[in-house]
Amino acid sequence: MTTFEPLVFSGIQPTGNLHLGNYLGALARFVPLQDAFNCVYCVVDLHAITVAQDPVELTGAIREVTAAYLAAGIDPRAHIVFNQSQVHAHAEMGWLLNCVARMGWLNRMTQFKEKAGKDKENASVGLFTYPTLMAADILVYRATHVPVGEDQKQHLELTRDIAAKFNNDYAARIDGLGFGTEYLPQPEPLIQGPATRIMSLRDGSKKMSKSDPSDYSRINLIDDADTIALKIRKAKTDPEGLPGELKGLEGRPEADNLVGIYAALADRTKQSVLDEFGGQQFSAFKPALADLAVEKLAPIAGEMRRLKADPGYIDAVLADGAGRAAAIADPVVATMKEILGLLSTRR
Ligand code: AMP
Ligand code: TRP
Repeated sequence: MTTFEPLVFSGIQPTGNLHLGNYLGALARFVPLQDAFNCVYCVVDLHAITVAQDPVELTGAIREVTAAYLAAGIDPRAHIVFNQSQVHAHAEMGWLLNCVARMGWLNRMTQFKEKAGKDKENASVGLFTYPTLMAADILVYRATHVPVGEDQKQHLELTRDIAAKFNNDYAARIDGLGFGTEYLPQPEPLIQGPATRIMSLRDGSKKMSKSDPSDYSRINLIDDADTIALKIRKAKTDPEGLPGELKGLEGRPEADNLVGIYAALADRTKQSVLDEFGGQQFSAFKPALADLAVEKLAPIAGEMRRLKADPGYIDAVLADGAGRAAAIADPVVATMKEILGLLSTRR
């Protein structure tokens, strides 16, 4: 078994409004990992163009996700923050892995089915091969840990399958070049805690999403305090009060979701939230939740607004990050080519 240097990689698409699901499922969990790992956090703009984008809005959204990374507390000097399209190695590795992944594997991806909808013939080819680009993002850094929300689990499994197939198909060559038994790691998904799948505030059976037509379905990271409070007040619930035990949340997706959001924001377990609020009505719980959400999100929103007013600074952070990302990724692509027999010089 080859041992790999521990490295965290994750990415967020610059598409539309960042919301509480992105924050609790991803961003907030990226921050503490900085203490234990070297981290690479990417704005995955090449993924964004798998569906139609307005170019002007896309540029703004790339800067906005970058601002969110920084505002949430990611340190771009100690770690790496960059946008995918500025590092050529992602597209190149994406091609190499397109030739490893099998049609049958991609045909099983549920996110493609959801995003392509009924008109599959009209979806971009990029949307179909999106998961191999995601595998490339991770494997081009030979990253070992990937914090994501629950919806990305299947893509991480595919990434592991692609790495295993590559290692297996080229095992003799990898060994011959002195890399031991494997060149690519099996990255581990980090999907933990009470907030891996935050649901819509209007419908507990749908996940909170950037693309939901109702703005009341989500709390956006840039919402002001009044908007956050209003959206929580209007959030769908059932007529019962809060239970004292987790079992009492079963079959009550909206109640479960709000308790999960409280727990994640307060960094507590759902049971400890029920210990405090069990037996109370939502009319009492919702204001407490709104206060907590405002307390946690308002400083991030404020910092995002401040950073967005200085696009020059954001662009400089991205350019610096891209240079440092390429310094890791380019030699990996060169070695991949050498393993494949593509007559490249390993640097
Ligand atoms: P995306 O906006 O699709 O690029 O997602 C960025 C990150 O946020 C990924 O790690 C997703 O798994 C995570 N995420 C998106 N929506 C949710 C949600 N409703 N609950 C939890 N995590 C989410
Ligand atoms: N597919 C992820 C999403 O939609 C975004 C993403 C792209 C990603 N590349 C990645 C996440 C690499 C983790 C690692 O949310």
